[in-house]
Amino acid sequence: MNSTVSQAPDMRVSIGSLQLANPVMVASGTFGFGQEYADLMDIDALGAIVTKGTSLEPRKGNPAPRTAETPAGMLNSVGLENPGIEIFISDKLPWLHKARPAVIVNIIGSTIRDYAEITARLDAAEGVDALEVNISCPNVSAGGIAFGSDAQAAAEVSRVVRQQTNKPVLVKLTPNVTDIAEIAARVAETGINGLTLINTLKGLALDYRTGKPLLGNGIGGLSGPAIRPVAVRAVFEVCQVVDIPVVGCGGIVKWPDAVEFFRAGACAIQVGSATFRNPGAALEILDGLKEYMAEIGCTSVGDLVGTVQMDD
Ligand SMILES: Cc1cc2nc3c(=O)[nH]c(=O)nc-3n(C[C@H](O)[C@H](O)[C@H](O)COP(=O)(O)O)c2cc1C
Repeated sequence: MNSTVSQAPDMRVSIGSLQLANPVMVASGTFGFGQEYADLMDIDALGAIVTKGTSLEPRKGNPAPRTAETPAGMLNSVGLENPGIEIFISDKLPWLHKARPAVIVNIIGSTIRDYAEITARLDAAEGVDALEVNISCPNVSAGGIAFGSDAQAAAEVSRVVRQQTNKPVLVKLTPNVTDIAEIAARVAETGINGLTLINTLKGLALDYRTGKPLLGNGIGGLSGPAIRPVAVRAVFEVCQVVDIPVVGCGGIVKWPDAVEFFRAGACAIQVGSATFRNPGAALEILDGLKEYMAEIGCTSVGDLVGTVQMDD
């Protein structure tokens, strides 16, 4: 790092052939299909938009209530409500394609064949810059976390997606496992381009008077600042065993949170639940990062990556 620099820091990041203007993305399921936020912020300033999880067929999602507030976080069980891949391609993708940020499409399947078919459709669609494979959703009865919590199944989904497209592929892992590094290592061997860490942690909140769950579906996924140390630990552990880029996600609310993830080894970050409270959160984080880098004389965001200082 150079203390005499005065020009703006270089925020560009590459993940395989995916080129991002900056490392700040909005996380899947917390930013709709992008257009919903167009009047609330300067969307074009984002590095990437990761779209809401999309399946082959439309999904109705889980019963309400789908969200509940918890200490330093929230629980959700949306159950991947989405219009299905056809409507996504015809109605949502054209707008996203015109926007400046990279478009990363989050996909979900109940079977390996579902993942293959969605990937093939997206491979042929104009405007998809990369895929993010969700094998980590805790809120669906089939697929999702069932693939992500078994190293062999996780690798198999990743391999099948890899075979169906040359577009960059990120695989999003679940923290609800004993050894996330083992799963990451197996998935990385399949030739995918990066990993997103982490999806939500399984949680349950009850109404103490009635004993009933606060969520209509019972158990849900915990997100927000409460999970940040779990996410930073996952990024750190995984970066010890893989050579591919890691995208950090989980509890990022302010720019110092993002710096934590870079230091742990992430090359880019995603902002999730924080957007619900403050739609401008991701852009405030980007501005804060640039200011911090200028202040410490860091010319390139890559110079922060992996600068964790652990005692041996
Ligand atoms: C309401 C809600 C919906 C979500 N939907 C998806 C989804 O469709 N696909 C996915 O991979 N992750 C989904 N997630 C997980 C987030 O992308 C993110 O991994 C998680 O919330 C942790 O980040 P955060 O603490 O910044 O929110 C969802 C999270 C929330 C809160």
